[in-house]
Amino acid sequence: MNHPQAAEKSVINTMKSVTSSDFVLSVAPMMDWTDTHCRVFHRILAPDARLYTEMVHANAVIHGDRAQLLAMNPVEHPVALQLGGSDPAHLAEATRIAVDHGFDEVNFNCGCPSDRVQAGRFGACLMREPALVADCVGAMVGAAGKVPVTVKCRLGVDDDDDYGQFRSFIDQIADVGCGHFVIHARNAWLKGLSPKENREVPPLRYDWAYRLKDERPDLRIELNGGIRDIDTAEGQRGRLDGVMLGRAAYHDPYLLHRLDSQWAARAELPRADLLRRFRPYVEAKLADGVALKHITRHLLGLWHGEPGGRPFRQVLSERAHLPGAGWGLIEEAMAAQSAVEAQLGNAR
Ligand SMILES: Cc1cc2nc3c(=O)[nH]c(=O)nc-3n(C[C@H](O)[C@H](O)[C@H](O)COP(=O)(O)O)c2cc1C
Repeated sequence: MNHPQAAEKSVINTMKSVTSSDFVLSVAPMMDWTDTHCRVFHRILAPDARLYTEMVHANAVIHGDRAQLLAMNPVEHPVALQLGGSDPAHLAEATRIAVDHGFDEVNFNCGCPSDRVQAGRFGACLMREPALVADCVGAMVGAAGKVPVTVKCRLGVDDDDDYGQFRSFIDQIADVGCGHFVIHARNAWLKGLSPKENREVPPLRYDWAYRLKDERPDLRIELNGGIRDIDTAEGQRGRLDGVMLGRAAYHDPYLLHRLDSQWAARAELPRADLLRRFRPYVEAKLADGVALKHITRHLLGLWHGEPGGRPFRQVLSERAHLPGAGWGLIEEAMAAQSAVEAQLGNAR
């Protein structure tokens, strides 16, 4: 952000990037997990959260089955499409399509470490190519109109340990008009670790995100990585612009509800009430021919760590694939959960 025109562009994009200046709660893009059914469920739990799709490659958006790849229900808003790729023209085209489709934000993936993604020269390996990323993001910003373009990245790759290099990466992208960064606050190790290990083994360094926010206060900096409880999430308020939860949101979705309710000063609702709000959607999808198991797999953690959580999961995972399985099975799972809770209550 060295020249004034670029700084101005970046501030404009910052202002567009979120609907209010409030601290943002987001649910991370997660391949095979954050599909449209999952996002509709998360929307019920967390009315104010920002939701992200799974990563979709720009070429797939341009040439693939858009009805499937960009499936999105109107209740999901605000929802971001995450794009992967490294060709500025293709990314611009995919961004235009995403905007026409109604996405509220287009996010660029600079954090995925998988071999397949590296072979395609996108994802985390782009952290070593800031000029190319700037070209890509600049093209996306140009194509997005009023819709914000954001970037999700790591701190570096392999043994990168130079904060200055990380900040320079961010600055080069901010210079082309991106004002909102989601920082998965660890390196990606491109050799020798699986994507799963790459979410656990490289150490988290939140201090780099804090330092970046201190030094670049005009940028919106959202923290991702290892946020698993209310206290850690709450601890980022006042320091950063938001938190993005991935695995914890998926495996313990009621945590999303608790955070969203707390930050909006709304009363928390019981899990069963929230789940019943999902019924019209589930029944509409069943009527469209969607199998129940494709929806219920996202619900399994609703009673995570609570009495009866296990039988709830068991009923759904053992029977949701059977022909004719419908909303009644979800009611049975809830009954199995509440029976355990009642038993415990009686024993006390
Ligand atoms: C199953 C799974 C799939 C993921 N797919 C993506 C993806 O498509 N795009 C992306 O940027 N990150 C992806 N991630 C990484 C998450 O967005 C997030 O950065 C990471 O899990 C760290 O956050 P957490 O500790 O809150 O889970 C994925 C993570 C998981 C567990």
